[in-house]
This record gives sequence, structure tokens and C-alpha cells, in this order.
Amino acid sequence: MANTRVLSAAVIHAVLWGACDALWCNCTTIQCRKTSLQCETDGACMTSTSFIDSQEQHVRACINQDDLVPPGQPFFCLGAAGLLNIYCCYTDYCNSIDLQVPFATSRAGLEAGVEPWGPVELMAVIAGPVFLLCVLLMVGVFIFQYHQRAYSHRQRLEVEDTSCDHLYMAKDKTLQDLIYDMSTSGSGSGLPLFVQRTVARTIVLQEIIGKGRFGEVWRGRWRGGDVAVKIFSSREERSWFREAEIYQTIMLRHENILGFIAADNKDNGTWTQLWLVSDYHEHGSLFDYLNRYSVTIEGMIKLALSAASGLAHLHMEILGTQGKPGIAHRDLKSKNILVKKNCTCAIADLGLAVRHDSSSDTIDIAPNQRVGTKRYMAPEVLDESINMMHFDSFKCADIYALGLVYWEIARRCNSGGVHEDYQLPFYDLVPSDPSIEEMRKVVCDQKLRPNVPNWWQSYEALRVMGKIMRECLYSNGAARLTALRIKKTLSQLSVQEDIKV
Ligand SMILES: *[C@@H]1O[C@H](CO)[C@@H](O)[C@H](O)[C@H]1NC(C)=O
Repeated sequence: MANTRVLSAAVIHAVLWGACDALWCNCTTIQCRKTSLQCETDGACMTSTSFIDSQEQHVRACINQDDLVPPGQPFFCLGAAGLLNIYCCYTDYCNSIDLQVPFATSRAGLEAGVEPWGPVELMAVIAGPVFLLCVLLMVGVFIFQYHQRAYSHRQRLEVEDTSCDHLYMAKDKTLQDLIYDMSTSGSGSGLPLFVQRTVARTIVLQEIIGKGRFGEVWRGRWRGGDVAVKIFSSREERSWFREAEIYQTIMLRHENILGFIAADNKDNGTWTQLWLVSDYHEHGSLFDYLNRYSVTIEGMIKLALSAASGLAHLHMEILGTQGKPGIAHRDLKSKNILVKKNCTCAIADLGLAVRHDSSSDTIDIAPNQRVGTKRYMAPEVLDESINMMHFDSFKCADIYALGLVYWEIARRCNSGGVHEDYQLPFYDLVPSDPSIEEMRKVVCDQKLRPNVPNWWQSYEALRVMGKIMRECLYSNGAARLTALRIKKTLSQLSVQEDIKV
């Protein structure tokens, strides 16, 4: 219904005023805040209210005529159920109004907001998106074929589709530029939602690179760069929302945490497609990497140190307005850590993470007891003795998982020509896809841990890794090392071994 309003307003505007009148709008973007809090445009005024990270954000801005595509239902004027309410209008300062805060979940929003539809509206609602989809499909096929041809002619030039470039505000900006601008001048939590939306909707999916619990992961192209797109099935809306929310925690960005780009939900009337767009790393997960390659001592230290840095940043609470809450991952494992081009780690898959609110000493969601991957569960999680009122317990459980990951890495360390094949932790003690009971017997009752071979003692780096590992795997969670401690120890080791990181 909001869309029909936008449509008719646009038509009336076009009929009455033509396209030549300048329009003044209220403006709260960073540029405007430096000057006059208003902007002039030939397009529309926009106001949006979002509810991300349990914070209301209001944005007012100008949208240029060129950006009002497709006509009648511009991308920039589409809301996102549960995340973002948007209103576009066409008279001076008409975006001065305050929009309602969106509902927490789109389901609730939809059910509360729906009025009975007449047959004509129903037809329009059904036929419209189907038609749009067909057009998009055709355009997609056309672009794909065009690219294939372009590809075979010139090896690798301009793979992206430039015909859509008028969609973005700054034509020459790459994703890195956009994100850099936003995270340095804004709240540090990433791109504004309408930019995320525009980015997400102009990605061209290329190939499927993984399947997970929640859906599929694709490699996509955006402006000549690769991005990873995690597509959630619509049943998993909650997971999608939660992961997007965690990634947009203020000041989460860190070189060893997977870089988040955009979240988008495309509702085409019949089903919702939920996207999470992030940096793409061609090495894939640490699990894939270790399966494929053995590592040098230097490589091992770089992987271990960067993983510890990422986890330390995640765990750390930073106080102040530009601060971040402490976050515990709760599903750390080699499959959820990515390996970047420079052979350092980026921690990914934050969908099960919990955040600590230190002012009230509470955790931001009611944590259910045993989530995560059974093989990597800490003993206190397996036997349910973990104190869930206490945020630090979750950090200690993360450290246990990190200890297992370190064992996986160290086994693949190639020193003096000796290295072992890749194995998952406890490969020799439990079957594949072990039950909680099987894990509990091994980890809690028999108190077994992955084996540290004797020959590790003959190399300083491996000796240190073995020691860290053992101190990560204590049965008593509170006795384990902290991520920061591990990071310091490994930094010292890297200096000793003369490694540049
Ligand atoms: C919008 O701009 C007008 C004119 O400058 C101003 O009077 C009004 O208070 C502004 N509204 C908001 C919400 O900032």
C-alpha cells in the first residue's frame, strides 16, 4: 500500500511539476550535518526509521531523480519488513515527519498491518512481482550471456554490469570505499540500510560455494569484485535477523572478523529471500585450507595469532559511545573460520553469538543451553554445568573450541618434513556426527583431549602451541587462558621466530 502511495504521488508530481523544479528536503547525512541539515534535489525526499542493534536510527535524505528506479517503485523507497520503514515524498521538507519504528519481526508487522484486499489489489500484488521477476530473469539471462561472450573475447575486463550503475550515489566508489567511508564517519556498524539494500539487489550471483544449516552460500559479483552471499531459507528468518544484528554491532569491524557488507530481505509477495552479504575469501574455510595444504611454522603462527586477535576483539568490551559490547561466538570451529588471501584468519558465522550488556550484567538474548557443534562443545556445555547467567562462561567455552582449532592447525605444521594428515578433533574417539552423549563420555567422564605428540617438543613454536592448547582445554573453564593472553603469547612467539604479521 505504501508503494501505491509512492506511485501515485510520483505520477501526480510528474504531471503537476514536470521534472525541473528543485525540491528541498530535510537531511541528516554526514555531509549535511557539516552544513545546513537540508539538501536540494530533482527527485524525492526520503525519511527512514530503522531498528537495528536495538537502536532506532532515523535518516533523512535527498534522492536524485536518477536514483528513482525503477519508476513508480524505486529501490530507495522500499522498506524492509521488521527492519526499516521508508517514506518518499515530493514536496518541500515533507520528510520532516517521524516514521513509526518498525516491528521487531516482519511476521508480526505483516499480520498487524494487513487489511482485507479487494480483488484488483490482490491481482496487482500477485501479478506485479511475478511480472517484475520475469523481467529481472530475462535481464539476468541477457546479462549472463553478454558476460559469457565478453569473457571469451577478452580474458578479464569489466565483468560487471555497468548499465545499472546509476543506482548508486557515487558511481566510482567500490564497496571498500563505501564501507570505509561509513565506518569511519558513521557509527562504525556498516552501511546505512538503503545502501545495503541497493548493493544487495545489484549483486549478480555466480556459483554456489557451500551449503549450511541455514541455507546456501554463493559467490557473487558486485562492481567487479567478489562478495559472498549467504542465502537463508525463509524458515530461518530469525537466524538471518540475528546474524545481521550481531554483524551490525557498533565497532565490530576488525581485520580478523569476517567483513559484513549488507543484509537484505526481498519479499516478492509469495516468499521472502533473506540475504547476508559479506567479504569473499577464495581460500574458503580453515577446515578446507588445512585439508588442502600443510603449513609452515610461520604459516601456523600467522593463522593462530590472527584467530586469537579476532576472538580477542570479539570478546572484548570497549566502553564509551564508540564502544562495543563483549560478544561470545558459541560456535567456533575450523569450518566457521575463513582464511584470507594473506593467510590470516577471519572469524565468521556469528549467528549464534550472544552479547553482554555490562551495565545490567545480562546477556542480550535468552541463551538456550546447548547450541553449536557438538564436537567442539566445552565439557561444561556437554554436562550442562555451565553458568549461563555469567557472560564469561561463554567466553571460556569459546576458548576451549579455539584450543581444538589450534590442535587442527598444529598437526598440519610442516617442520623438518614431518607433518600429519588433517583430522577433526576427537577423530579417533568418536564417530562422525557424534551425539552429545558420546562427546560427554569422552570429554567429561574420561577427560580425554586431543593428543600432543612428543616430537612437538623439539620445535619451539610447536612446543608453545602445545602448551597454549593444553591451557585452552582445561576442564575448569575459569582456568583457561583468555583470548588476549593467547594473542600476547603468540605475538611474542612471532617476534622470536622473526615473522612479519
Ligand atoms: C525540516 O526542515 C525545516 C526547514 O529547515 C525545519 O523547520 C524543520 O524543523 C525540519 N524538521 C526536522 C524534523 O528536522
